[in-house]
Amino acid sequence: MANELYAVVGNPISHSKSPRIHSLFACQTGEPVEYTAIQAPIDEFSGTVRHFFERGGKGLNVTVPFKEQAWTLADHRTPRAEKAGAANTLFLDQENELVADNTDGVGIVRDLQNNHGVALKGLKVLVLGAGGAVRGVIGPILAEQPAELTIANRTVAKAEALVRLFAKDAGATVLSACGFEAPDQPFDLIINGTSASLQGDLPPVSANVIGPATVVYDMMYSLQTTTFNQWALDHGAHRVHDGLGMLVEQAAESFFVWRGVRPETAPVIEELRTD
Ligand code: ATR
Repeated sequence: MANELYAVVGNPISHSKSPRIHSLFACQTGEPVEYTAIQAPIDEFSGTVRHFFERGGKGLNVTVPFKEQAWTLADHRTPRAEKAGAANTLFLDQENELVADNTDGVGIVRDLQNNHGVALKGLKVLVLGAGGAVRGVIGPILAEQPAELTIANRTVAKAEALVRLFAKDAGATVLSACGFEAPDQPFDLIINGTSASLQGDLPPVSANVIGPATVVYDMMYSLQTTTFNQWALDHGAHRVHDGLGMLVEQAAESFFVWRGVRPETAPVIEELRTD
């Protein structure tokens, strides 16, 4: 069977690991998938998407800075994309209409639960940040029924807006918003979803949020320990994880959405760590 075409679209795109991840999935599953990277000009995202599907492309991943545009552009959105306000996965349905999905939230939950043995149910969770990346993961985290989910952000109004948006999905979870300075007790799990480290900063949260059993998860990934994870280790965190597993898990979920086949993620995560 001839290969079917998939790609990731972003700007910049040259550092994306998605082509490598999906090539490994294709190899492992025997699916006829060819996966490339496309750099769309900043003001030409929709034209790039249209052109890709017109020439027979089957599915796209979308990354920075186009995830919100992908969401707007789509004719239909899956419920999880609707709530996320952004899309990382696009495909055409049987009527040739563009569907937007978001697999980021499922990605972090699967990485925590399947790869790191962190079941979210009943945990006290602190999320740092309230931007697009955080909005994409709140719904799937709440679905696991943590005992508490506190969203702390530099701009408190943005954290409060997320709490309003997800209030109906909270169930028995105590969902709240605050500034970085407010949390002062240890949490079971701390997720850093800010982009502070891109500017060489740390979110100015008190080290009291870290106790001897605290697991810390930085949604960024890096070959070295991330700045935030190093800070957490220096203050006695039990374990730290970066977002590489989330990246592979969201990719696996996109692969499943497109192909109906679920690749194994553990060997791919291991392979990327040794690249
Ligand atoms: P992303 O798509 O990565 O989520 P974003 O929507 O721009 O990007 O959100 C970035 C997040 O990181 C926000 O929560 C932002 O805080 P504000 O909402 O107050 O802007 C946070 N952030 C960025 N730089 C930061 C810094 N230097 N210190 C603390 N928080 C920072």
